[in-house]
Amino acid sequence: MKEVFVTRKIHPAGLALLKKAGYKITVYPKDQMIEKKELLAGVKGKDALLSLLTDKIDEDVFKAAGPRLKVVANYAVGFDNVDLQAAKKHNVTVTNTPSDKVNESVAEETFALMMALARRIAEADHFSKHGQYKGWAPMLLNGVDVYGKTLGLIGAGRIGSMVARRAVNGFGMKLIYSDMRPNSELEKQLGAKKVSLVNLLKKADFISLHVPLLPSTRHMISTKQLAMMKPGAFLINTSRGPVVDEKALLKALRSKKIAGAGLDVFECEPAIDCDLRDNLELKSFENVILTPHIASATEAARRDMSEIAAKNIIAVLKGKKALTPAKV
Ligand code: DGY
Repeated sequence: MKEVFVTRKIHPAGLALLKKAGYKITVYPKDQMIEKKELLAGVKGKDALLSLLTDKIDEDVFKAAGPRLKVVANYAVGFDNVDLQAAKKHNVTVTNTPSDKVNESVAEETFALMMALARRIAEADHFSKHGQYKGWAPMLLNGVDVYGKTLGLIGAGRIGSMVARRAVNGFGMKLIYSDMRPNSELEKQLGAKKVSLVNLLKKADFISLHVPLLPSTRHMISTKQLAMMKPGAFLINTSRGPVVDEKALLKALRSKKIAGAGLDVFECEPAIDCDLRDNLELKSFENVILTPHIASATEAARRDMSEIAAKNIIAVLKGKKALTPAKV
């Protein structure tokens, strides 16, 4: 009987598919990030591993698993936690979950952060709940409009395009993007303009990151890039934390170089701040909105992720091609 190890409790839809396929499933019983030691023990002798973005799947894991392991199905769109070279060396297929539902959910969270920053929703909520509202006032919590502003997308792939649709069709925003490849659909349908990263940083009112974490994108937003942003511009990151140099961001926020930031991901995740040696804390800024990596946390998206991960496992264990192999 084929055996699957799942590193944490996930949406049950995928587990039901694996069960129906006749596999023996072991789910790590504690609802917490699995320790490396337990991951190595759990994967031993298994045919498939269903991993999360919080699990580091490296050479040690492939070695511990042994020759039966055929597939690592990562329960995420991103797969920077998996060593693809090691997987190749051990002849293991790696898959991810890039479904439309997941991408739409991430696009919605991106927009939620953008709106919340522009209209100071978190500050207003805190103000209202803490007895500070004493009557309407012309200058109370004034924000900025999103309508008609320029959105700069760094990365115009699937998720970036879904953010773009909302921005143009829903909010009349102007669209500029920087990417290695042109996106002619975005240009034709939404009037998007491809620009250099420097131009994007200089022109956009809202900048949203939609790139995978690669050696080339690590700290792609650092002191120099933040200095190029307009003083009234906002930065939104729903991609991966290390794409932004968090220390540089904190300094830009402190010196009011930028207007604010909406972050769903953090450089030293799950820690919100990498270290506090310089007394710079993300949590201390009113114009920073933080969410705990929940961009795809909707019922529909998480169901889809679970089912896609399971379908990938079933396909590979049946000797077929994976539905969504991880591709850089
Ligand atoms: C993903 O799927 O990679 C997202 O980061 C989850 O929110």
